[in-house]
Amino acid sequence: MEYTTLGTTGVKVSRIGLGAWQFSQTWGLTDYETAKSIIAKALESGINLIDTAMVYGRGMSEEFVGRALKELGVKRDEVVIATKIPGDFLAYDDVFKAVDRSLKRLQVDYIDLMQVHWPPCWHNHPTCEYMKALERLVNLGRINYIGLSDFPVELVDAARSCLSRVDVEVLQVRYNLAERQAEKELIPYAEENGMSLLAWSPLAKGAILGKYSLEEAQKLQDVRSGDPLYHPDNYPQVLQLAAKIKEVAEKYGKTPAQVALNWLIMYSDTVIPIPGAKRPEQVEDNAGAVGWRLSYEDWRLLDEASRGLRITYVTW
Ligand SMILES: NC(=O)c1ccc[n+]([C@@H]2O[C@H](COP(=O)([O-])OP(=O)(O)OC[C@H]3O[C@@H](n4cnc5c(N)ncnc54)[C@H](OP(=O)(O)O)[C@@H]3O)[C@@H](O)[C@H]2O)c1
Repeated sequence: MEYTTLGTTGVKVSRIGLGAWQFSQTWGLTDYETAKSIIAKALESGINLIDTAMVYGRGMSEEFVGRALKELGVKRDEVVIATKIPGDFLAYDDVFKAVDRSLKRLQVDYIDLMQVHWPPCWHNHPTCEYMKALERLVNLGRINYIGLSDFPVELVDAARSCLSRVDVEVLQVRYNLAERQAEKELIPYAEENGMSLLAWSPLAKGAILGKYSLEEAQKLQDVRSGDPLYHPDNYPQVLQLAAKIKEVAEKYGKTPAQVALNWLIMYSDTVIPIPGAKRPEQVEDNAGAVGWRLSYEDWRLLDEASRGLRITYVTW
């Protein structure tokens, strides 16, 4: 495993993290023992950053992560736990209440990284109200660092201006070879400001791995049934990219997932992909995305192939 530093914190985190959204009804992994074996394999592979959220399985993911870390005898400073507070829980008092519940589910007395999952859009929660609540929780030792997920740069600036003694250390956004919008503003922003950028759906929910034919993709029953990348308007192009990724992978004796993740970390030092996994073998595979690099020529080949995609989100 390779390691990097989380933002400006000095905290050592693995170059590849583990996403824990899979531990939910949405993704269909609700068996605790399987979740535990995935977490165990992640740790064994050198992954020390786990990304969960309050909304994943309405607490199930946090519970599984906390319980597994306890049962596996992981010391608190051996793992970096990142979780998220939903955009609906951002009234000042609710921030405290939600974080208290998170701490309980995770069975810890502090959370390494608390990210605002998405900006408040259904309620008028003023930005400084929830940012100041989070900063107070840092002062009180319940949160170590603050991150923002799915925030545009204008709102990141506004959120940072509310903080007095700490800063935003992490941005989190969708980023994979088929969906590269993060390169426009958020990655440059993270680079300029010494932040880490956690890349969510770094495998495009498996779409860029070419595991499923067009017909099979239409039958997926989980969260992917409504995902634009799997839609017939987009998926044939995604499969063409998947074929290129596979070709490169074969050349290196690597898997498509390893190549797709390696490409992302080569794009920017700030990028930390957090792939999810349904089985321990997938975590092991994803951990093998580091310790080597694509040649510049092969990186460019995939760059060109992915730039050719015209993904539309207007699928109905
Ligand atoms: N902040 C946000 O708004 C937000 C949004 C989405 C996700 N996230 C975070 O990002 C994490 C990852 O994103 P994601 O779950 O959307 O998608 P992802 O990591 O791109 O894809 C995960 C899926 O790909 C397949 N897979 C994983 N590793 C594989 C491998 N080595 N070989 C073959 N298939 C593999 C598995 O599905 P199958 O085996 O079923 O094909 C797995 O469930 C989440 O767990 C969550 O922590 C955050």
